Amino acid sequence: MNKITAAITAIGSYVPEFVLSNKVLEGLVETNDEWITSRTGIKERRILKEEGKGTSFLAIEAAKNLLLKSNVDPAEIDMVIMATATPDLLVAATGVYVASQIGAVNAFAYDLQAACSSFLYGMSTASAYISSGKYKKVLLIGADKMSSIIDYTDRSTCIIFGDGAGAVLFEPNTEGLGLQDEILRSDGIGREFLKIEAGGSILPPSEDTIKNKQHFVHQDGKTVFKYAVSGMADVSEKIMQRNNLSHNDVNWLIAHQANKRIIDATANRMGVEEDKVLVNIHRYGNTTSATLPLLLADFEEKFKKGDNLIFAAFGGGFTWGSIYLK
Ligand code: UT7
Repeated sequence: MNKITAAITAIGSYVPEFVLSNKVLEGLVETNDEWITSRTGIKERRILKEEGKGTSFLAIEAAKNLLLKSNVDPAEIDMVIMATATPDLLVAATGVYVASQIGAVNAFAYDLQAACSSFLYGMSTASAYISSGKYKKVLLIGADKMSSIIDYTDRSTCIIFGDGAGAVLFEPNTEGLGLQDEILRSDGIGREFLKIEAGGSILPPSEDTIKNKQHFVHQDGKTVFKYAVSGMADVSEKIMQRNNLSHNDVNWLIAHQANKRIIDATANRMGVEEDKVLVNIHRYGNTTSATLPLLLADFEEKFKKGDNLIFAAFGGGFTWGSIYLK
């Protein structure tokens, strides 16, 4: 019998309507369009404004979009993996609620948190479940409402992040399509440089933590930038070598959209030409767990069966990695 690989068979996405442009940010903090564009590549982001709506709202919309486009019966889904760094609630996994809301009544679900690498790690998890032969339809959703953890008076973070969601369905394939190889890494040194300090078990919420703005994302951008450039480029280069892929063999680079300069550095190290590098950071900013599936959704029409896709991500923790998928 042929080996079972996990192939992507459907894609969906959702971004909220409200557009937060660089121009609007100029009125909130001391920054300007020229600085943001040249340092990050970002022009605007989407923000989920409606009160009472959390990450699950984004995820449900993305999943519904996938179900509509693919005609898949949600009752056939075996499992929902919810990649997110901004769950609706600290306890009671967001994925469980999402699965119920989309009619995935026969699925089990849970959340997977690895900051900006959550979706990439989720691809590995989904693939392992499929290849094991245990499950036939695994829905992986990457969604984040980053605006819920951003301080809009902090110019070092508020210019970067946006809200969004994407979903992909993994199914078994016996023609050799789907996930081929992966290199996943992590290093706890990163905890110092990108984190939300309070609200967890070390520092539960208090009047002081609120006063000190410790429930927002804080990052040492310069240090994270350095680690991200070398981390993402290293694993992407390595996965090409390990699979005997030259730059000509790579059809598309699908890299986490954190900073256009990090994406360019990764592509450079891989020797991949600019027209193969998928970019939508100018429209959405960094949507954390949603960047990779949003790229898949935005550029879906470009992909042909058998194309060689290299995925790469880097995130807080630190967490990073690269995946080769056909
Ligand atoms: O997805 C998770 C992983 N996260 C990342 O990958 C983020 C990685 N880091 C970055 O993308 C970049 O470090 C940032 C975009 C966050 C910052 O860019 P940078 O080129 O590293 O700038 P910097 O922090 O070194 O700041 C350069 C200057 C500083 O001024 P001085 O000290 O040179 O006078 C900052 O105060 O730019 C100033 N600055 C700003 N100016 C205008 C910092 N933020 C802003 C701003 N607008 N928003």
